[in-house]
Formats: sequence, structure tokens, C-alpha cells
Amino acid sequence: MTKKLNLDRILQCQGFGSRKGCRELIQAGDVRVQGQAITDFAAAFATDGLEFEVFGESWTYREHIYIALNKPPNFECSRKPSHHPGVLTLLPEQFRARDVQPVGRLDHDTTGLLLLSDDGAFIHAQSSPKRHVPKIYVATTHEPVTPALIAQLQEGVQLIDEPAPLSAQARLMDTHRLEIMLEQGKYHQVKRMLAAAGNHCVALRRVAIGGLTLAALGLEEGDWCYLDEAQRELLVAPA
Ligand code: URA
Repeated sequence: MTKKLNLDRILQCQGFGSRKGCRELIQAGDVRVQGQAITDFAAAFATDGLEFEVFGESWTYREHIYIALNKPPNFECSRKPSHHPGVLTLLPEQFRARDVQPVGRLDHDTTGLLLLSDDGAFIHAQSSPKRHVPKIYVATTHEPVTPALIAQLQEGVQLIDEPAPLSAQARLMDTHRLEIMLEQGKYHQVKRMLAAAGNHCVALRRVAIGGLTLAALGLEEGDWCYLDEAQRELLVAPA
């Protein structure tokens, strides 16, 4: 059944401020719904696919948001960034008010595909190690990539603090680049695995999560997009 909500409540849950602040926005005539200015904050609308404007900017009501960001370098994924700005500063301000969070973390200097959402169940499911969703990275190395390095990564390398060697599917791309596929997401895993195999990672980019690729999304560095249901369905382990 389609949910109907008062306009002040709609704006509040979409991240436009407190209930009081949203009422003021509406009363000031800064909000339009389906093209019409609405000044009655108690006016009720069916939320499904509702189009509205705030200060002339168009929005569609979304119960939850699912986002793919092409993360640039020098942004932190942590909730309390310390040395660089947080990735949330790359998104509209309303998303912070909705408590949008990164799904897992990339290092501050790692670039590429990062998912964000305000849907706790989605974040939890995507972060679960039980799901074995492959994550594909392209690593640029300091030393040349050799067949021996690829073999070592595939057979497994021992990292300090890990009870057993960790392995990854790896593929040589060119003299100093390789593709690495991980199912886990241990701290600095790619960089540590390359170091343990005697090389050094100088740049790292995540290019895919499950079947969702950065190339298909066509996002420039720093750009983001909403993910629809079909795109979210790609975020699974291959059958
Ligand atoms: N592995 C790393 O070393 N860093 C990342 O950001 C992601 C995977």
C-alpha cells in the first residue's frame, strides 16, 4: 500500500532538517510538489515516486538511498576523519542528515567504487564476510609484476596477525599492474599481501563489487549515482 505522509515529515525524513525547520521552509514557499508551490506543511502526499523541489532543486522521495561513488584519493571513509575530508563531503548535505554511511572502507589513498547507504540491513548484509562477494582491485606496483608474484598471491601469503595464509585470484595486466580479486576485506589487505609477496603497492583502485563495475556506471572520479534494484542485485557472489 502506498504510504501517505505530511509534507513536513517527508522533508524531514529526506534529510532537509528538523521538523520545525522543514515547516519553515514550506511556509516560506521554498518547496514545490509535482510542480506546484505548497505552503501548507500538513498537506499529505503519497510518497511512492513523489517528485518535489526545494529551493528549485528537484528530488524524488526515497525511503532508503543506495549510492555508488567513484572515490577520489585523499578522502577518508571513517565516521570521524582525521587527516583528510570524509567521503560524505562529496555527497549532498541531506544525505548526512539521513545518516548515509560507507559500506566497508577504502584507505584514504585508494580510489574507485565505494557503496554508501542509509539502509542498515543493506550495509550489514553487504559487509558480512559470509556473503563472499568478490571485490576486484587494480593495483599499481613499484617493482614489476612477475608470474612468480601472481603465483604467490594465488597460493597464499602469510600476513602478520592472520592465523593462516590468505590467497587471492590475481591476473597480470601489464609490467606494473595487476588485477586482484578478494572475497574478504581485511585491513589494508591488498597492500599487505603485495608487501608480503615482496612488492609494494603504489596505487590501488577498486573497479568492481560482485557484478557491479565502475566501468558500467561510467562515473568520473568524485562523481556518484543512485543504484537501482537491478544494479543492487549485481552485488552478490557469482552462482
Ligand atoms: N586493500 C587495501 O590494502 N586497501 C584498500 O583500501 C582496500 C583493500
